[in-house]
Amino acid sequence: MNEREAGIERLYPSIFGRMATRYYYLRQLRQKIEEVIQQFVANNPAKLTLADYGCGNKPYQPLIAPFVEKYIGIDLPENTSADIHISPEGRIQLADNSLDVVLSTQVLEHVVNPTAYLLEAQRVLKKDGQLILSTHGYWMFHPDPTDFWRWTSTGLQKVVSEAGFEIVYFKGIIGRSAMGLQLFQDGILFKLPQFLRPILALIMQPLIIFFDKTTAQETRDKDACTFILVAKKK
Ligand SMILES: C[S@@+](CC[C@H](N)C(=O)[O-])C[C@H]1O[C@@H](n2cnc3c(N)ncnc32)[C@H](O)[C@@H]1O
Repeated sequence: MNEREAGIERLYPSIFGRMATRYYYLRQLRQKIEEVIQQFVANNPAKLTLADYGCGNKPYQPLIAPFVEKYIGIDLPENTSADIHISPEGRIQLADNSLDVVLSTQVLEHVVNPTAYLLEAQRVLKKDGQLILSTHGYWMFHPDPTDFWRWTSTGLQKVVSEAGFEIVYFKGIIGRSAMGLQLFQDGILFKLPQFLRPILALIMQPLIIFFDKTTAQETRDKDACTFILVAKKK
């Protein structure tokens, strides 16, 4: 499987595929990112410049690239897919007030200093520029290359607001009971031989879906697997 196919599988995972144990989570995250793009990016008539800050292999580029003129991937020096590497001090080699959108998906839990990372996003955004950010509430340890933080809804809102942003959209993805099951699945998963893992996913993922459907969005916005927010630079 090449990188492009792996990216598509991540965006549209199959319950019978390689990403089966992440089936519901990855679909929910992609759907929420699509919702945010439609609500905050797609209708903007300006020619937008976007930075994918902590881009990895840019999994969400196909969803947002049609609506932006320039898409810049930024990451640590070891990431060869990045267009710009951050300096050892964490600086982005871009001028102040130069970007319309900063996209940050599943990065904040990995950065050494979240406040410094957010302040750098704030510096490179234009006034009223948008930060689209998703990060984990509850999730298993997953270093890439490090893993430092998990957020509560209020803790995440506090750290983002204090970096000079106004939060205009905030949603939780996968509520407590469903997430308990996801963690239970992952607790067993790595003890099983490879051939049994898809069977575990076939049992657990429908249960996770069922319990998540019984959770109110209002509850999920407080306590969730992942939070997604849109914040404007003040
Ligand atoms: C879990 S990956 C997420 C990648 C991609 N955004 C995604 O959604 O798949 C975390 C990424 O954050 C990057 N990263 C870690 N610390 C960073 C920092 N201080 N500044 C920018 N990127 C960082 C890592 O190199 C890695 O590519």
